[in-house]
Amino acid sequence: MKIFITGIAGFLGANLADYYLKKNYEVSGCDNLIGGTLDNINKNKIRFFKANCENLEEMSKIIRDVDVVVHTAAYPHEGLSSFSPFLICKSNYIGSVSVFTAAIQNKVKRIVFCSSMARYGNINPPFHEGQKVNPVDPYGVSKLAAEETLKILAQTHNIEYNIAVPHNIIGPKQKYDDPFRNVVSIMTNLILQNRQPIIYGNGEQTRNFSDIDDCIYCLDKLITNKSIVSETFNIGPDEDSITINELFKILCNKLKYNGEAEYVKDRPNEVKHAICSSNKARKLLNYKTSVNLSDSIDKVIDFIKSKGPKKFEYNYDIEINNELTPETWKNKKF
Ligand SMILES: NC(=O)c1ccc[n+]([C@@H]2O[C@H](COP(=O)([O-])OP(=O)(O)OC[C@H]3O[C@@H](n4cnc5c(N)ncnc54)[C@H](O)[C@@H]3O)[C@@H](O)[C@H]2O)c1
Repeated sequence: MKIFITGIAGFLGANLADYYLKKNYEVSGCDNLIGGTLDNINKNKIRFFKANCENLEEMSKIIRDVDVVVHTAAYPHEGLSSFSPFLICKSNYIGSVSVFTAAIQNKVKRIVFCSSMARYGNINPPFHEGQKVNPVDPYGVSKLAAEETLKILAQTHNIEYNIAVPHNIIGPKQKYDDPFRNVVSIMTNLILQNRQPIIYGNGEQTRNFSDIDDCIYCLDKLITNKSIVSETFNIGPDEDSITINELFKILCNKLKYNGEAEYVKDRPNEVKHAICSSNKARKLLNYKTSVNLSDSIDKVIDFIKSKGPKKFEYNYDIEINNELTPETWKNKKF
């Protein structure tokens, strides 16, 4: 099987590439390296293209002679998307349409798109795949728009597709020096530098974190299973949800940090209770949480320790800088 992964130098893309290399698949992929690093991939075994998904001409040239395209590339910045909407939507929507178009031009059999739970927005949890959605930020809208476009194109051109809706995945190879996303990694990176972690709002937001390994075997089914087609799946646990305050306490215990967190104003549009139902994945993908949260956090800590804590990088321009823009980003507090 020949598989092309966009965003292959990123967290999910690189872990997926490792998984398929172990199975001796032919793996190729592209990344523009804005949010990923070449350190994440085995360059000797992967056909890697440094390319921007938004460039259709380039995508058409490199997505050649493959069976499946897995589109993981994105600017996965939900919070930032209310302040850099053009940047985020361009990459997430235009970039997705470009990848889908190139894949169809080159007659791939199947496209698998990584959406996000942000597609659900402000509705009652737990979120079910068939529920009427209400995204509340440009990131969620861009993901939903890409999903809908994929469904239309797949139907029109008679190709297979599946949509994965992962939520808060954590694990090795995740970027931990990006101030705009990945709360577990940000807190760990700060604490390891003996710096004070920051919590938005009162910290009582609830989240479910999923281990990368539990995400990969489900994604594999969306990519390779012949009888799973034209489906949308939440991927991740619906048990063991925790608040950000509880997450902070867990990290304090594990990293022996005695300080307090700094509480800052909450971010506009942040969904308070974001939990996806795993029922459909349990039933059709045999989803089971095999790595518990504590072990999963240990994997993140070990990874960051092995690479060493890093200074945060502000790689993304803030397009709307006003009184609502979080001070953490304006004043580069991380
Ligand atoms: N990690 C999570 O918790 C999570 C949760 C829900 C959804 N997702 C979705 O899963 C996918 C992967 O997320 P991730 O955590 O691996 O993010 P990531 O940032 O680690 O990986 C994304 C990769 O895509 C690359 N990229 C971005 N825009 C590109 C472009 N225009 N052209 C080429 N490469 C580009 C980045 O450089 C990066 O390496 C994303 O689509 C994200 O929205 C992730």
